[in-house]
Amino acid sequence: MTTQPLEKNLENCEIAEQVITPWDVKGEDEKGIDYDKLIKKFGSQKISPELLDRFTKITGHEPHHFLRRGIVFSHRDFDHILTLKEQGKPFYLYTGRGPSSGSLHMGHCVPFMFTKWLQDVFDVPLVIQMTDDEKFLWKDLSLEEANRLAYLNIKDIIAFGFNPEKTFIFCDLDYIPSCKEFYWNIARIQKCVNFNQAQKIFGFDETSYIGKVSFPAIQAAPSFSTSFPHLFGNRKVPCLIPCAIDQDPYFRMTRDVAPRLSLPKPALLHSTFLPALQGAQTKMSSSEVNSAVEVCDTANQIKKKINKYAFSGGKVSVEEHREFGGDTSVDVSFKYLTFFEEDDAKLAQIKGDYESGAMLTGELKKLLIEKLQGIVKTFQESRAAVTDATVEQFMSRSPKS
Ligand code: TYM
Repeated sequence: MTTQPLEKNLENCEIAEQVITPWDVKGEDEKGIDYDKLIKKFGSQKISPELLDRFTKITGHEPHHFLRRGIVFSHRDFDHILTLKEQGKPFYLYTGRGPSSGSLHMGHCVPFMFTKWLQDVFDVPLVIQMTDDEKFLWKDLSLEEANRLAYLNIKDIIAFGFNPEKTFIFCDLDYIPSCKEFYWNIARIQKCVNFNQAQKIFGFDETSYIGKVSFPAIQAAPSFSTSFPHLFGNRKVPCLIPCAIDQDPYFRMTRDVAPRLSLPKPALLHSTFLPALQGAQTKMSSSEVNSAVEVCDTANQIKKKINKYAFSGGKVSVEEHREFGGDTSVDVSFKYLTFFEEDDAKLAQIKGDYESGAMLTGELKKLLIEKLQGIVKTFQESRAAVTDATVEQFMSRSPKS
């Protein structure tokens, strides 16, 4: 196993003014991130209408509205996953969460809602990694606290409705010391990437803790089925990773390493970011308290946050707004509705009314508030039913069907 020169698209992505890394997301202007530029720079593929037609033909399902609307906009080898499905060959899903706070925000709902749908459509095993070790290294958190937050987050994640018979959730801090096969894969990956390469992909420098520099191998390892002997024995089963595009650097590295370990490259489906309340230039993030609607917020908190912080594309006065209409390309409330209002006809009507000036910002915000309050209420009911016994079931290593 020798280290090899990097492919160009493995390099850390700083496109002119926009910065996209697992720890930092900044767009060029108030219109937000230029996702087409990202596809070019990262070397992934845009999701095409032909790919979606093939998806429908093979699965018999209409594409999720995230796919139809370009919210899940890019992929790596998703066509290969469809071929596996067509041929009746196995694959599994892998996603994760870095527990930096006690609860998820609406942005995190995007990959988890989408992954739940993928699991329903494909009926395959799913592994969910909780990177409590990552948050210990990057945030001001003790190991105990990062691990505690992971267990709280697991309850949130289970509330999305994953199939307990086919889903395995694990925390790095607990799983790594107890699973030799997982740790052996980590060590193998660590030997394939040198510091120079890690620096180019992730932007590490000489002040970075050595724990940070070696962490990417830990996020890479679940992409390989041999890390889960209780699920797959020693079979080399390919995997599909749904995530937002910020996580792609980890998996560019993983895809580069896989052939050298004679393991299949993971396939990916990338989503765009749910923007911060303040505007599309940054993503909704747990680190910025007022940038996020949390899944644990009360109906009143949601109302207050949207009314106070959601950046508006409306005009300064009602008269002007009636005459010229609002700008849906920068309006955060409208943007959120494109993620969470599933009804295409309703969304088109809202767009038309807002752009023509028939609908005012307050009316648009009201629609969003009601939508989010409904989603959060349903989520909280499901979360209330998750007990410690449920968590144990999802984390159990007894063989799953
Ligand atoms: P974390 O906890 O930052 O985010 C969890 C998942 O949510 C996505 N995400 C968002 N999606 C849309 N809009 C947003 N505003 C937004 N913010 C976050 C992330 O891309 C991610 O999919 N290191 C990872 C944990 C991890 C992981 C994985 C994620 C471990 N293995 C495999 C995806 C796939 C992390 O800290 O994610």
